Amino acid sequence: MQHELSLLQQFAGTFLKDVNLGVILLNTSFELIDISDMACRVLGLHREQVLHLPMERVFAALPAEHQLFNRSILDGMVVRNHALSWTLGEERYELLMDSNVLRDGTGDVVGAYIIFKDVTNLRSLEEQVQRSDRLAMIGQIAAGTAHEIRNPLTSIKGFLQVLRKTFEDQGMRRESGYTDVMLAEINRINELVNEFLLLSKPKHAAMEEVDVSQVLRDILPIINNEAILHGVIVRYEAMLDLPRVIADRELLKQVFLNIGKNGIEAMGEGGYLTLSERVDMEERKVSIDIHDTGPGIPMFVIDKIFDPFFTTKEQGTGLGLSVCQRIIHDIGGYIRVSSKGYGTTFTVSIPFP
Ligand SMILES: Nc1ncnc2c1ncn2[C@@H]1O[C@H](COP(=O)(O)OP(=O)(O)OP(=O)(O)O)[C@@H](O)[C@H]1O
Ligand SMILES: [Mg+2]
Repeated sequence: MQHELSLLQQFAGTFLKDVNLGVILLNTSFELIDISDMACRVLGLHREQVLHLPMERVFAALPAEHQLFNRSILDGMVVRNHALSWTLGEERYELLMDSNVLRDGTGDVVGAYIIFKDVTNLRSLEEQVQRSDRLAMIGQIAAGTAHEIRNPLTSIKGFLQVLRKTFEDQGMRRESGYTDVMLAEINRINELVNEFLLLSKPKHAAMEEVDVSQVLRDILPIINNEAILHGVIVRYEAMLDLPRVIADRELLKQVFLNIGKNGIEAMGEGGYLTLSERVDMEERKVSIDIHDTGPGIPMFVIDKIFDPFFTTKEQGTGLGLSVCQRIIHDIGGYIRVSSKGYGTTFTVSIPFP
């Protein structure tokens, strides 16, 4: 018997150290008798400092309504799956808590226990699922609307071109200038609508073997033009014999243009935009790093930058990156972003056969 008890005690000690649950044991004076390591970590406590302290003192720094529990749990109030949030420094935890009294053989209350589990990750998984539902819905609405917008636009554009011709023939310079402006605006709408369509359904992509270096060389003049406007210097670090990938050449151009443009727009005069190529033979993928020396992307923004319509720019549509992600996903690749306060790197990785 003695032996068994000590085994149980041994286990209790190990259990409180190892278990990935918050466990707190209280006596009838509402003093903390023991606490698991996980509970210490989440609550920001040191076990040795809080053992045998009254619970009010353990959480002395917090106002009563923010303390995890109160004396009523000793009165036999049973708690099951009580959801609560707990903030420790920068971390925010979502917890599910149970508690109940402990009784001895004769039924007298000798203390109470509190057990909680950390469901923070489950919660964020839930949010992700909701978000991808929302994205799918936006995509469907976008596709429907885009078609409806494009058709009337085409006829407006056609008639405008006729008008412009007439104005020109009659020497009405000012009026033909107006039609030019209108046509340019219509083109802008058209581009926007095209992006919508891209977002909502992968268009009939023309897949072929593509030399990514060649794609970068093709768009370098365009990026350079944009860079000059912003006083930014572009560097290109090529690699010899980059393996070819299977992709739609035009769509790839769009990806690098969008990301490059973002980098340039993020920087002021004197910034550097660097495009460099890498190969990972083991994982069989080609990676392009697009690095800028801009201000970086704040933590609370970085989660959202791939969401359609998320933008911090007055003139932005917020579609640039979501289109890029769609395109790269469709060819089995991925885009990673790292930004640590100063400068940002977007890495586009594409598998090669
Ligand atoms: N290199 C970067 N440095 C800092 N912030 C960036 C960078 N790239 C993207 N962002 C942030 O991500 C947001 C979303 O980018 P995205 O390309 O999707 O849309 P946009 O650039 O705002 O609009 P559009 O692409 O239509 O002009 C930007 O508004 C910006 O806040
Ligand atoms: Mg953009």
